[in-house]
Amino acid sequence: MTAESTGYKPGLEGVVAAETRLSSVDGQKGELIISGYLVEDLALHATFEETCYLLWYDRLPNESELSAFKQSLAARRALPAATLALLAAVAEQKLPAMDALRIAAGTLDLDLGGDQTSVDQQAHTLTARIPTVVAAYWRLLQGQTPIAPRTDLDHAANYLYMLNGETPSPARVRGLETYLNTVSDHGLNASTFAARVIIATQSDLTSAIVGAIGALKGPLHGGAPGPALDMVFEIGEANKAEPFMRAKLDRGERLMGFGHRVYKVRDPRADVLSQAAEEMFKADGDLNLYNLAKHVETIAIKLLDEYKPGRNLRTNVEFFTALLLHGLDLETDLFTPTFAAGRVAGWIGHCFEQQRTGRLIRPQSVYIGERDRTWTPAAER
Ligand code: ACO
Repeated sequence: MTAESTGYKPGLEGVVAAETRLSSVDGQKGELIISGYLVEDLALHATFEETCYLLWYDRLPNESELSAFKQSLAARRALPAATLALLAAVAEQKLPAMDALRIAAGTLDLDLGGDQTSVDQQAHTLTARIPTVVAAYWRLLQGQTPIAPRTDLDHAANYLYMLNGETPSPARVRGLETYLNTVSDHGLNASTFAARVIIATQSDLTSAIVGAIGALKGPLHGGAPGPALDMVFEIGEANKAEPFMRAKLDRGERLMGFGHRVYKVRDPRADVLSQAAEEMFKADGDLNLYNLAKHVETIAIKLLDEYKPGRNLRTNVEFFTALLLHGLDLETDLFTPTFAAGRVAGWIGHCFEQQRTGRLIRPQSVYIGERDRTWTPAAER
């Protein structure tokens, strides 16, 4: 039996498993549409709250709806005491921040009254609290006391505030907001699919989000950030970029931050994040790292065209994510949890969409094991 004769598609490649109004990924055109808007348009302008509203309710909120939505998230940011105690115990084990988020996420609805909670309340609470978990855990890991969330700041600003206690500049808030919007949804990626499978069993939203976080944690999805920026730091000076990357390619190594499984032209998210990073570094008054990264990018593309002609290997989202989040003073261990803080908007939107279909997701497998075994007692094996 061959894979073709059974219809088996390894990795479900090419299988259409959902209809969605949330996002469209066109790898040939290099186009990402989020709920009708090009990512370039939405990500650079929207607040994160507007992106959540758009993904959950399929339209942008008017002013009073937006204000009510912001207030609802702000009012739910504080963590249950038991979640904070759990995070302190996790910090003693010095686990990575993504493990802490996975462990804590299942406790975020502790104070919501179980079955009495509406799915909207769960959605608002989970989204509001993920940054609080990440920031609190980060501080506990450094032996610092967590900073209580403020209700007078918007979602992105409050996340930055909870990390170091400083009210962030508008440019830094814009930088984070653009990042969260950019990664808010991306087709039927692994974590989104995991969330849809779980909610399709009529399980609850918290379970779906915990499953999605588990899927995002893996290195083949969101769990291997940072190496793109490590390369920029290793290069250090513009004139070393070409010899450094040539040596890497001569050894048969890959240039991190370039190439993509889906995008066969430039990843549109790279452009958005490059622009956001430039504006943020400019406002902070130091463009040196940004300029070095842009130079590395230019040389990398030139060399990839030379070494891998016809492959059209271009900058991917990781390259400028690392630069932007580093510019926001986030350590590498916080990159994937911050990705989760943005992607939760899409996970929840997909869960709502899946719930409306009312359909269990239940693909088939083809049996390739033995068929003629008969039972033998343990002593005779
Ligand atoms: N540097 C050098 N060569 C590369 C790179 C790269 N970054 N990416 C692909 N190639 C080469 C491969 O060696 C291969 O060459 P060959 O045909 O001579 O053997 C050819 O291009 C095609 O490679 P594939 O692995 O088939 O490409 P695919 O599209 O499956 O891989 C991937 C995509 C895994 C992202 C790859 O481009 C890569 O390893 N990039 C570097 C790691 C990275 O940046 N990861 C973050 C991805 S961002 C994201 O997933 C959200």
